[in-house]
Amino acid sequence: MPMRRTLSPFDQLIAGADRALRTVFSQAPRPRRANPAAQLPETVHGDQDRRHVAGLMRVNHAGEIAAQGLYQGQAATARLDQVRESMEQAAEEENDHLAWCEERLSELGSRPSILNPLWYAGAFTIGATAGLIGDRWSLGFVAETERQVVRHLEDHLGRLPEGDERSKAILEQMRTDEKCHGKVAEEAGGAALPAPFRGLMGIVSRVMTRGAYRL
Ligand SMILES: [Fe+2]
Ligand SMILES: [Fe+2]
Repeated sequence: MPMRRTLSPFDQLIAGADRALRTVFSQAPRPRRANPAAQLPETVHGDQDRRHVAGLMRVNHAGEIAAQGLYQGQAATARLDQVRESMEQAAEEENDHLAWCEERLSELGSRPSILNPLWYAGAFTIGATAGLIGDRWSLGFVAETERQVVRHLEDHLGRLPEGDERSKAILEQMRTDEKCHGKVAEEAGGAALPAPFRGLMGIVSRVMTRGAYRL
């Protein structure tokens, strides 16, 4: 049997801090799947359109940074091993999204949100708290988050300039994946969150959307 090193709480803290810093400050690790836009032509050329699409993709990139924080926070505190595993797997899929958004931003000559450390820290705290409260709530939180993300992606798909197939292909694949993440969390026993809490989540996501579009 291979020897497995047990990490002390201090080791875990260092590993977590290392992961957080890499998520926020370096490029996303190589995506496991090919960029859905890879074979599609670039159609966004005007300055104004490029700035607008970059704003939208910066919001989506910030959302994916938050998704990393959320999943990593939950993985740190979720009790059931099975929950922890499905969270870690989802976080890995979110990494594809992060990398694709990053690629699209650099194609448009733009950059990620300067507020990314803030989005990450906030999402990590919320994820870790949800994990502490209990697995059913933690899964319910993922299910609700993904539902709201799907609605948000649909809104963004409608706001892309006519013919921007490159951005569209990425956002559509993300929408498919997020739908699936939400369903998995629901079927694993996610509890329905109280309406006021769902409303609060909507407010937080609007603040993020506004902030990351410009900053
Ligand atoms: Fe995602
Ligand atoms: Fe997701």
